[in-house]
Amino acid sequence: MRSSMMSMVVLGAALASAAPTLSSSLVKRASSSCTFNSAASASASAKSCSTVVLDNIEVPAGETLDLSDLASSSTAKPPSATRNGMGPLIRSSGSNIILTGTSNHTINGGGERWWDGEGTNGGKTKPKFFYAHDLDDSTITGLNVKNTPVQAFSVQSDNPVLNRITIENSDGDYNGGHNTDAFDVSESNGVTIRNAVVRNQDDCLAVNSGTNIVFTGGTCSGGHGLSIGSVGGRDDNTVSNVTISHSTVSNSANGIRIKTISRATSKVSGVTFNNIQLSGITEYGVVIEQDYENGSPTGTPTTGVPITDLTMQQVTGSVESDDTPVYILCGDGSCSDWTWLNVDVTGGESRSKCENVPSGASC
Ligand SMILES: *[C@@H]1O[C@H](CO)[C@@H](O)[C@H](O)[C@H]1NC(C)=O
Ligand SMILES: *[C@@H]1O[C@H](CO)[C@@H](O)[C@H](O)[C@H]1NC(C)=O
Repeated sequence: MRSSMMSMVVLGAALASAAPTLSSSLVKRASSSCTFNSAASASASAKSCSTVVLDNIEVPAGETLDLSDLASSSTAKPPSATRNGMGPLIRSSGSNIILTGTSNHTINGGGERWWDGEGTNGGKTKPKFFYAHDLDDSTITGLNVKNTPVQAFSVQSDNPVLNRITIENSDGDYNGGHNTDAFDVSESNGVTIRNAVVRNQDDCLAVNSGTNIVFTGGTCSGGHGLSIGSVGGRDDNTVSNVTISHSTVSNSANGIRIKTISRATSKVSGVTFNNIQLSGITEYGVVIEQDYENGSPTGTPTTGVPITDLTMQQVTGSVESDDTPVYILCGDGSCSDWTWLNVDVTGGESRSKCENVPSGASC
């Protein structure tokens, strides 16, 4: 059973009267239905309902719309609305949950209230938009998100599917939006992200750790492209079996990127990029480097995070004139078993400083 009512969620910001209609509902499809019209009542009571419809909800800045533990009525989580500790604007957890947006809604993260050009590096403390943590065997479908304060979706779950999520953060371009990653995946198994449309100022996808991950049908623009990493130095540092396919990256700093942390130990294996189209890339079309430290490249690769069994297939497009189509900086012997087929990134100047490029790839 699915509610057909249009309802409204406004997050972290009063709804300006000049704004277009902002409406949404998040619905868990099941047998009984509760409708809430305040974030406090939804956060307090949603877990005892099998279907949740949110109607005209406003989440005050610094609080969290808490849709945790939806599948169970018994375990109450500690309250997560944290004015000072800055939880996410929305969190959801549970098993076999379905969260769906009604057609034509927008969920406005009110990011302009926090944007100061510093993202998570400084300035105001900013809430992430959505924690999908321990949201297992569950689906989030058809959400239209606008103006996230910083990172949008943090995914730490087993077998979640995120389908048709649109993230429209282009206001952040001239307004101080920074670190507005669309999907950050870590400590997860079996993630599928399909048909995302992203307009932001940082990674469209960043996989920091996890296994059996699929990202397909994505349309990424304005940001930093499709990234693995940086890998290393976290609690979980293994990336394996990741397929990123049938996606476009336009008007972005990078197209495809794999970064590993200098002197860390872990591994990246079984990553495939297939059918990726690049355009308007302003730094690197494809960049793979094993030299990251404190968020920046050192220029000196290390060998502790080998990148093996990497496939690039049908990666095509162009970079801007002063930029680099392909840059590979590997440690001695720490990149191997690469297959590149029809990698054709044109424009710019080729990089003379590639190191330890494994056979199969070219730089
Ligand atoms: C969708 O929203 C837009 C902008 O608010 C509005 O112009 C349009 O009529 C809406 N369409 C439907 C089917 O409700
Ligand atoms: C890789 O992940 C995909 C998607 O979860 C899965 O279908 C496939 O079986 C996995 N491959 C291996 C070798 O585990």
